[in-house]
Formats: sequence, C-alpha cells, structure tokens
Amino acid sequence: MMHLAFLLLIICTDGSSSQKVCSNQDVVEHLNLTGDNSVFRMTRPVLDHKRPTAVQLDILLLALLAVIEKTQTFVPFVWVIMKWHNERISWDPAQFCGITHISIPKEMLWKPDLCILEMTQEDESPQNPYMFVSHDGTVSSEEEMKVVSTCEMDVHKFPFDTQRCNISIGSAVHCVDEIRVFPFSNSSRATQFSREVIMTQGEWEFLQLTIRSQNFTTDDRLWEFLIYTFTVKRRPLLHVTNFLLPILFFLVLDLASFFIQDRRGEKLGFKVTILLAISVLLLILNDILPSMSNRTPLIATYCIVTFALMLLSLLETILVTYFMEKDKQNTFITDEKRQTCKASDEEKPRESLPMGHQVHSSVQGREGDALLLILEQLKEVQNSVDLHLVWRQEGGKFGLLAARIDRSFFIFYITTVSLFLTLIFIAWTT
Ligand SMILES: *[C@@H]1O[C@H](CO)[C@@H](O)[C@H](O)[C@H]1NC(C)=O
Ligand SMILES: *[C@@H]1O[C@H](CO)[C@@H](O)[C@H](O)[C@H]1NC(C)=O
Repeated sequence: MMHLAFLLLIICTDGSSSQKVCSNQDVVEHLNLTGDNSVFRMTRPVLDHKRPTAVQLDILLLALLAVIEKTQTFVPFVWVIMKWHNERISWDPAQFCGITHISIPKEMLWKPDLCILEMTQEDESPQNPYMFVSHDGTVSSEEEMKVVSTCEMDVHKFPFDTQRCNISIGSAVHCVDEIRVFPFSNSSRATQFSREVIMTQGEWEFLQLTIRSQNFTTDDRLWEFLIYTFTVKRRPLLHVTNFLLPILFFLVLDLASFFIQDRRGEKLGFKVTILLAISVLLLILNDILPSMSNRTPLIATYCIVTFALMLLSLLETILVTYFMEKDKQNTFITDEKRQTCKASDEEKPRESLPMGHQVHSSVQGREGDALLLILEQLKEVQNSVDLHLVWRQEGGKFGLLAARIDRSFFIFYITTVSLFLTLIFIAWTT
C-alpha cells in the first residue's frame, strides 16, 4: 500500500524521471524539532490554552509478578499505551514522499505527566526511548512498566480467594480543564486483549479488567482519573496440598487413634505428637497471612477449631487413662486376694500334673530342678494372663466409666468433625 502511494506520488508530483528521495530527518527539520526545541517540550501543545488535551489510554496486563497478602502488595507488569494530539505538529505527507509517521526520542516532545496513585516504588524496567508522531499531530507512546502498588486484600476466604486491585492513572498536576483521560478500549476489549498478551500468571489466574472514570476534587480543583480494576483468582492447589490436606490427615490420624488398644500411655504420646505436628503447620500459616484483617480468615478458624478438637481429644485420653489406672489399682488389690486364694487351690493340680511327675521321676539332680523352675514360671505367667483376661472381662467401676466416656466422646468427636468440615467447606466455596 505504502509502495503504491509512493509510486503515485512520484508520478503525480514529478513528471520527470528523477526520483524524489525523502528521509525522516527532512520531516524533523521541517517541523523545526532540531536545535532549540523548547517550544515543543515545555508547554502543553495547544494553541488555545483553554482547550484541554485529551489523552487516550490503554493498560494491558502483561504478567502478574506477585500478589503478596502479607504486605498487601500487588505487582503487575503492564503495558501502557497513550495517545494525544500535539497541535504544533503537522505536515503534508505528499511533500515528504508519503511519510505519514516518524519516530523521535521521547524527550523531544511534551508528554502528559500521568502517574499511578497506588504506586509505591519507582519503576526500573527498561524504557522504550522512542515515540511515534503522525502527520496530523497524533503522538503515541508506549511503556512497559512494573507497577509495585498497594492493594487492600481480603484474605477471608484464603486460599480460595479472589482479589480486586486498582490502578488509578491520571495527571499529577493538570486538572480536568487541562488534561482529560479517556479509555481507548472498553472493559471487555481490554480484558480480551490482556488475555491475549499475558505471559505469566503464576499462582494467580487473571479473570477480568474493568475500567471506569472517576473525578477527584481538592479545594475547587478537579482531577480526572481512570481506574483499572484487575480481578485475579488464586489457584489454591499449592495451599491445599501443602496445608489443608496435611491438617485433615492429622485429624484423621487423631480419629484413628481411638482404636489404639492402650495399656502404657502410647495413645497419649501419639496424640501429643500429632498436636505438635499441627503447631508446626500453624507456623507456616503465620508466614502467609497478614496480621491485620478485619474478618478472621476461614483458614484460621479451620486451624484453631481443628487444634481445639485435637486438644479436647487429648484431654479426654488423659482422663480415660487416669480412670483406667485407677481401675487397675483397684483390680490389683482384688487380684492379690484372688491370687492367694488361687494359690491354695493350685496345690492339688500341681500334685496331679502328670508331666511334672514324669519330669520329676525321670530326671534327677540339677537339670530336673531347673526344668521344674521353668515350669513353675510358665504357670505363673499363665495365671497372670488369665487374671488379666478376667479383669478385662469384668472391668471395675472406673474401667466401665472410662469405656463409656471413650465411646461417647468418640461419637461426639466424629459428629463435630464432620459437621465442622461440612460447614467450613460450604463457607469456603460460596
Ligand atoms: C520553522 O522555523 C522557520 C524559521 O524559524 C519558520 O519559517 C517555519 O515556519 C518553521 N516551521 C514550522 C513548521 O513551524
Ligand atoms: C469528571 O468531570 C468532567 C468535567 O467536569 C465531566 O465531564 C465528567 O463526566 C466527570 N466524570 C465523572 C465520572 O464524574
């Protein structure tokens, strides 16, 4: 197209065969941009000062570098496209071999002093040094910048949360009667563009970009700002596998520990270990969430309630163990009586034991004595096992109490855990 126009130009303007050659420098010289170009740089490029300069803007999301809840920082990498009209610049492309636009260094012309309100750090990303100037005076400039901005985040539903962060852009010193800002594309187009150009999103998923215009007033002056709202959704998988599931597993382990047949306080040790493991996980949570939040995050509720439930089950185990110890002492006393009774009874059976007799009669001397001793020991073990079984079957007053407490607590525990998990899951997903 350009070539065609170029050829036509040569034919129409210059009937002769000599080809006209133009360079961009010719345009620059025609515009008087060389030498002292203070007239282009220093003031807003309007011939009538009452006319505002209209700046058309587009901000596209190129990458989501970070979204940090702890410091409430939102760091997008954006592409800012600006367009405005410079009334001091114009040329006839026909005079310059059809050159319709040139690129010149940014510092040669006036630029709108657009700034981002939320920005907390100066941008250090490399800058494109040129901007485009069209023959009708339209100047367009593009910048890629890393915006380190503040954003108030709501972590109530962490890690199933959606955050909305604003970037408000407008002139720092010029009021609405000097500089006006307009969005170049509407919300849905900007969203679609951003989806096309976005490079990395990391842990977050970009949902949409909405644009609205807002006026700020101080005293009697009015500033116009465009507010770009980025909606991003967290991909929760990492936190689910790192955090929520392990706690759930520990809860299941704690439930399973009810089936440990406890004799020597192993169950107690097991539960204490689980509780310690959970407290380590709580330390990780402390690293992620901001200390200040108007609403308690659901994940904190999840941890605290789980922790409290396990604590309760630990206390219950301590109580049950206490009762069982007490019961054991009681039965031990009765056992001793029973043992003395049994011991007198056992005299007869021992006499009538055929094996003992055989051993006694066939083997004489030391070996026989040793064997006899072993036999007696074995019988004693047998006795104690019998006694233990008797104790377990009959159970003392405290033993019964302990078993009852254990059973009712287990039912209560299972009900509470399932109810709590259902409720918190509903709260998380809605
Ligand atoms: C450039 O400067 C010359 C001399 O100062 C002037 O004649 C000419 O009109 C200027 N050109 C433009 C485009 O302002
Ligand atoms: C801001 O002020 C300008 C100029 O008075 C007006 O045209 C525009 O509608 C205002 N914008 C809003 C969002 O109120």
